Amino acid sequence: MNSGNDFEVKDLKLAGQGRMSIELAERRMGIMGILKERFAKEKPFKNLTIGMALHVTKETAVLVRTLVAGGAKIAITGCNPLSTQDDVAAALAEEGIAVYAYKGESNEDYYRYLEKVVKAKPQLTIDDGGDLVGLIHTKHPELIPSIIGGSEETTTGIIRLRAMEKDRALKYPIIAVNDNKTKHLLDNYYGTGQSTLDGILRATNILIAGKKVVIGGYGPCGKGVSMRAKGMGANVVVTEVDAFRALQAVLDGFEVMPMREAAKLGDIFITVTGDKNVITVEHVKLMKDNAVLANSGHFDVEIDVKGLEKLGKKRRVRWQLDEYSIGGKKIYLCAEGRLVNLAAAEGHPSEVMATSFAGQALAMEYLVKNRGKLKPGVSMLPESLDDEIAGLQLNSMGVKIDSLTEEQKKYLSSWKEGT
Ligand code: ADE
Repeated sequence: MNSGNDFEVKDLKLAGQGRMSIELAERRMGIMGILKERFAKEKPFKNLTIGMALHVTKETAVLVRTLVAGGAKIAITGCNPLSTQDDVAAALAEEGIAVYAYKGESNEDYYRYLEKVVKAKPQLTIDDGGDLVGLIHTKHPELIPSIIGGSEETTTGIIRLRAMEKDRALKYPIIAVNDNKTKHLLDNYYGTGQSTLDGILRATNILIAGKKVVIGGYGPCGKGVSMRAKGMGANVVVTEVDAFRALQAVLDGFEVMPMREAAKLGDIFITVTGDKNVITVEHVKLMKDNAVLANSGHFDVEIDVKGLEKLGKKRRVRWQLDEYSIGGKKIYLCAEGRLVNLAAAEGHPSEVMATSFAGQALAMEYLVKNRGKLKPGVSMLPESLDDEIAGLQLNSMGVKIDSLTEEQKKYLSSWKEGT
């Protein structure tokens, strides 16, 4: 481990590779370049510290650089013990960023690093999963009066924050960046779709074609994973608790059934629900020999890993793949049941993180511009900013679109024109 006054990373010697990876990501995240240029001129974050608990990846580094260009001081830690890219963390440390993260963090270090971010006394917070906001509210409420606001990246975090809001426990404004259409309809769908399969492939090198792939959850992430698995030749089975989503899955051409039935049929199981115990020991007992389990939901609670450990003898057979011997059969678990796309692969590709993180950057600017005007609670970024993100991203990709003519605008606003 390499540490200094204000960083703790695996190995500073990895910084060169990290810098090259960040540069590659920058080239694929055109919109972040556009925002960085504007922020560099306008300095919206001058004299402000932003505390971040996000996956420390090359894409997150691009966001960090964008905020720094706008005058921010950053303190950052990871939001999952297995998702940090050590080369990127080293590059950030070399750039003078207060970064505390390494891949394979102990639980103790995970929380020690969150405390370090809190110690930087941030006026703005960016969370992925809500751990930073949770820590500030439970252990450091003295910071709250000086906090302008925060933002949240993921569905799981939004669920936690809304629960806090309902209990009147949330004491500062949070922008639900996850709920931007340029986030959950792109990143969750195309990003999770591709990166989840990428993680499973890197961990197992299994052939997807011809396999029965059981996907727990048919929200935007589950839809994305189902679509990609189907595209690679899998027979997709969906399990759901929501009738509408289950109906969507049926109409998209997938088999839908309870997990108890799917457990007997599946070759590969992927959980993406945001809830706990989607795959229990009872389900595992019903599974076929050689079944592969993976989770792409935020926390490692969707598969009952502790139950699995009691059920069978564990052996690490490959990087990020554990084999459990259960009676006469073998069951395989990817990435210890943690986010397989970040633990066994590199998370969502840069192109799709571009619009997610443009949302984060604009949410930070929006909070500063509206300092003192927003009430504590969870709210959305104005739709005009969400649309601006889509427009800027298209611009950066060189894609042009049509615009409404005056006649068309008039038609859309009139109720008198009929048959
Ligand atoms: N969440 C999913 N993929 C990610 C990535 N590449 N960077 C940061 N957060 C992510």
